Amino acid sequence: MKVLITGANTGIGFATAEQLVKQGQHVILACRNPQKAQVAQEKLRKLDQAQVDLVSLDLNSLEQTRKAADQIADQYGNLDVLINNAGLFAKTKQLTADGFEQQFGVNYLGHFLLTQKLLPVLEKAPKARIVHLASIAHWAGSIKPNKFRAEGFYNPLFYYGQSKLANLLFSNALAEKMANSTITNNALHPGGVASDIYRDLPKPVYEVMKLGLVPTSVPAKLITQMATGDEWAKRNGEYVSAHMPDWKSPHAKNQQLARDLYTQSMDLVEKYL
Ligand SMILES: NC(=O)c1ccc[n+]([C@@H]2O[C@H](COP(=O)([O-])OP(=O)(O)OC[C@H]3O[C@@H](n4cnc5c(N)ncnc54)[C@H](OP(=O)(O)O)[C@@H]3O)[C@@H](O)[C@H]2O)c1
Repeated sequence: MKVLITGANTGIGFATAEQLVKQGQHVILACRNPQKAQVAQEKLRKLDQAQVDLVSLDLNSLEQTRKAADQIADQYGNLDVLINNAGLFAKTKQLTADGFEQQFGVNYLGHFLLTQKLLPVLEKAPKARIVHLASIAHWAGSIKPNKFRAEGFYNPLFYYGQSKLANLLFSNALAEKMANSTITNNALHPGGVASDIYRDLPKPVYEVMKLGLVPTSVPAKLITQMATGDEWAKRNGEYVSAHMPDWKSPHAKNQQLARDLYTQSMDLVEKYL
């Protein structure tokens, strides 16, 4: 199987790539930093004979994301699995190249565009799967179109929560739209996982927090099952968790909100489709 993972040079994405490479899958690492990506590729190539490729992807820019998607389509023709994993937690207000709040832009809107552009490529596989990295932090967010560009007061937790709620709603909207297609969509909370995503936290806070975190291998195992396991072949529109409750917030259960966000997002990326 050909599996593309965004943000696969480190953290949960890298641990998932390790498990997929050990299974002998053809893994494509879609990363923004070529040096870090090469180091990851070399490590993965030592694990098995499986093919490990790199593509350059910067979700901070819709134009760069469009180019990456076009390159992936040209180079591979078809894809069996897309794992929308890349993400960040931004402590301070930052904007993407297109002027969106960075977490909304990178964690969600960039992946929205990438996925839309890759749907025809996924449709060429006999049965394809899309796995969306959401989070329990979606409870901290709601969808506020007037905040997509971070107007006004900046609360990082709200914005991270908005982006992760958007990931989950996107999975739900696509699952509904593609219910009669060959593609499934499912989302997960990976758990509280020891990774670089907490790099901006003060060190003492992180040291205490780390006691409750699980290693990246825990969500990687679940993501690998969702991506390639027989037990996930027919599951569609689900939200699961690797080690914490998989409760969905009222917003996450709201399918009309999912449809509305989908339509708004199509408008936002229209000129890059
Ligand atoms: N760790 C947790 O406790 C936790 C909990 C819930 C959900 N999650 C979700 O799990 C996913 C993976 O997180 P992680 O914990 O593995 O974090 P991580 O170790 O920080 O890895 C994040 C990955 O995303 C990449 N990335 C960031 N900005 C990007 C951009 N503009 N374009 C392309 N790639 C970009 C990073 O690249 P660089 O290495 O170049 O920065 C890195 O490869 C995220 O979606 C996160 O929201 C994590």
